[in-house]
Amino acid sequence: MNKKEAVISYLEYQGIDELPGADRKLVEEAVAAASGAYAPYSHFMVGAAILLDDGTVVRGANVENAAFPSGSCAEKTALSYTVANYDGRKSVAIAIAALSDGKLTRDPVPPCGNCRQMLIEEEQRLGKPIRVILAGDSAVIVLENCQTLMPISFTRSNLVK
Ligand code: THU
Repeated sequence: MNKKEAVISYLEYQGIDELPGADRKLVEEAVAAASGAYAPYSHFMVGAAILLDDGTVVRGANVENAAFPSGSCAEKTALSYTVANYDGRKSVAIAIAALSDGKLTRDPVPPCGNCRQMLIEEEQRLGKPIRVILAGDSAVIVLENCQTLMPISFTRSNLVK
């Protein structure tokens, strides 16, 4: 038996103003994207902004449904749109932000497990890291890749018998 460890490292900034300019711009896109959310049930409006390698920014927001499991997270909305419409271009970063009562949440919003799963697969498909920026009013977390979000994750290689 071997004991193994999965240690993650990330940067934590003390707010959006402390971020480097390009990351701050992407967070502003995510905040703007949140206003496009359809969230009549949770009133929790999430925005995601994906930066592509040619500078294009793709926005997504959460879309809820009366049949609760049918809704979609902001990250999933943005990622699905990117994959479907920007073939040949690569995602290099994603910023995520949420508005509660119209204000940026104090803490950064971590992506749910399902969205982590989707982000990891896209990162593997592209063969390059996608940086992750989780924005809150009091702290912003920056991870250098999506895989860091979920060690020992299920991937397509696990489907091979
Ligand atoms: N939500 C997201 O869009 N992204 C996340 O990372 C966490 C949760 C949405 C789903 C639902 O519409 C609302 O936030 C409350 O969970």
